[in-house]
Parts: sequence; C-alpha cells; structure tokens
Amino acid sequence: MKQALIVLENVYLIFRRGWLLSREQVEAVAGVSLAIPEGGILALVGETGSGKTTLGKLVAGLYRPTQGRVLFQGQDLWAMDRRAFLQYRRAVQLVHQDAFAALNPVRTIYQSLKAPLLHHRIARNEREARERAAELLGQVGLTPPELFLDKYPHQLSGGQRQRVLLARALTVQPRLIVADEPVSMIDVSLRLSILQLLRELNRRMGIAILYITHDLATARYLAEEGQVAVMYLGKIVEHGIFRNVLGEPRHPYLQALLSAVPVPDPRIAQTIRPASLQGIDPPDPRRPPSGCRFHPRCPYAQRICMEIPPTLEGPADHQVACHFAQELPLWRPPSAASPSQWA
Ligand SMILES: Nc1ncnc2c1ncn2[C@@H]1O[C@H](COP(=O)(O)OP(=O)(O)O)[C@@H](O)[C@H]1O
Ligand code: SF4
Ligand SMILES: [Mg+2]
Repeated sequence: MKQALIVLENVYLIFRRGWLLSREQVEAVAGVSLAIPEGGILALVGETGSGKTTLGKLVAGLYRPTQGRVLFQGQDLWAMDRRAFLQYRRAVQLVHQDAFAALNPVRTIYQSLKAPLLHHRIARNEREARERAAELLGQVGLTPPELFLDKYPHQLSGGQRQRVLLARALTVQPRLIVADEPVSMIDVSLRLSILQLLRELNRRMGIAILYITHDLATARYLAEEGQVAVMYLGKIVEHGIFRNVLGEPRHPYLQALLSAVPVPDPRIAQTIRPASLQGIDPPDPRRPPSGCRFHPRCPYAQRICMEIPPTLEGPADHQVACHFAQELPLWRPPSAASPSQWA
C-alpha cells in the first residue's frame, strides 16, 4: 500500500447563511474520512450538490474544516507553521472546470505561467522562465510551444485552455492535482485527450490525482487502476478500489446509478417498497433526511434507516455505508463485463 499523501479524518464543512430566523446551514461535507495515496488516483463521484467541490477545496486547503482534520504527509494542515502551509499549498494544485474564468484574460499564456515560476523562484530570470514555460507547454501537449506562449486565453479552444491550466498547475511541481470536473465544459470530442493527459501526468511524474466528476464513464477511464469514492449529500456512501466497487456495487444508490432498472431483484421489489430513483429529486441539503440520508429514495429503506445513520464498513478495498449492505442481493452491473458501454 502506498503511503498516504492526504488524509481526511471525519471532516465536516458547514456553510452558514443569514441571521436569526432566516439563518440556515448546509452541511456540504458531513463526516468524511478518506486517504489519497502518494502517486495514486482517486475518483470522487456524485450528483451536483453532493459536496464534491467543497471536498476538493478542503483537500486543496482553500477551506478550513468546521470539524475534523486534513493531514498532509501526516501533518495537520491547520496546525502547521506558515512555511509548511505554503509548501503544502504548492504541493496541492486545484484545476477548475472553467478554464476561461481561471485564466487572466489580459495576460498572455507566457505571462500566466511566468508569474508562479518567478514567484516561487523556480526560474531565476525571464530567460529561464520562458524556457521553462515552453517546456511545460510541451508537457501538456501544446506544441510547438512558440505558437502558444504569446497568445491570449480567448485565442485558444476550450481544450487548449484546460491544458494551459494544467501547465500552470505544473509550474510549482505539485504532488497532487485536484481536478474538479476538468472536462465538463469542453467539447466531447476533446475530453478523452485531456483525461489521457491527466493519466500521463500521473504515470510519468507520479503526481497523485483527485478527479472530481458527476460522470462514472470518465471516472472509469481515469481511475480504473485506482480508487473511487461515491458521495451522496455530503457523505461517502461507497469507497474502495475502483474495480472492486464498480464490479460489485453494494450501495443501493450506486446500484441505481449503474442500473437502468432501479430495483435489481424483482423479488425484493415485491417485499420492500419499490421506488423509482429517477423520479425523485435529491433532498434539500439544508434539511438532510434523518438517519441514512438516502432513505427517501431507497427502495430497501426500513425503520432503522430513518433513525440511525450508517457508517462506512468493510475492508479498505471496498467499504459501504448501508445497514443492509451484507443482506441485499449481490448484483453485478452488466456493463462491467463490457467497458465499451461506458465510453
Ligand atoms: N460558498 C457556499 N456557501 C453556501 N453554500 C454552499 C457554498 N458552496 C457550496 N454550497 C452548498 O453546499 C452543497 C455542496 O455544494 P458543492 O460542494 O458545490 O457540490 P458539488 O460540487 O457536488 O456540486 C450544495 O448544497 C451547495 O449549495
Ligand atoms: S441504510 Fe437503508 S436507506 Fe440507506 S441505503 Fe441502506 S437500505 Fe437504503
Ligand atoms: Mg462541483
């Protein structure tokens, strides 16, 4: 087992809005424990609003947990001295989905890359900075670099801008890239090449990747050799080695995501209230359901599910948070046998 680069210990992030009577709070992340191994890939999958971006920002040190700890190489982020914290902020780079918004429109690509190179003294002067910037553009597949260095973001395509963002992340020689829906805003035909690039950065440079997505197909493409965590309303409901989890999903939510038929076994459907998951919107995160947060949508819910929140149980390579994980019928998604159906 590779050493953990980042560890989340029972992390909560609660957003609070308004005052007195209009005061409301959202538990965007509600007791998450996770580890990202050095050089590993973890896909974080879930619907919009499940807390993925918030979790990504907690990992990148942009949010301080309301409760719980985030550890970087064993050290609590929020108890580090300033120097160690700055080192950490360099080591973990966040890449947003909206590359256009993330790049300064009045700076050329070279200027955007030069700033961190000089600031962190990775380059000592303009000449070195330009050489290094060209090298980085080469590494992200923008070749020949001279064609791109003096362009402005609006002169590039969405896919090229996403590559520039990755080049900018690489300026500081990170150990982890948090890629938050990096391909959701670019043309479908270019998505695969960006994911391929992320995979290459992982393989060639040993950079760990936290890949955040609502899309299981791209998660599979990137993290098939790695791990996956499935998030639902602020909690991890299933987690482990990608092949184990997707090959034999145990949580009713993941089974439903993977199945066109919400209730895999008709015998169960007769004995337990059947529910079509597609028809019901995710509950309001300001008022999460009691007990298991998934219970209003779960075809197997029983009384205990409304009262007691299940915890993640099982061996590290496949954990599930469901009171009935061991009792529900084993079900294998038909697509597991034929990966082409995912693409
Ligand atoms: N800055 C914020 N202030 C208040 N609520 C927020 C903020 N950011 C996110 N949220 C809420 O937290 C929940 C999780 O959001 P987010 O992490 O963006 O989910 P995802 O990335 O999975 O779509 C949502 O209900 C969202 O409305
Ligand atoms: S704990 Fe209950 S409600 Fe939650 S997923 Fe399991 S069976 Fe469904
Ligand atoms: Mg998001």
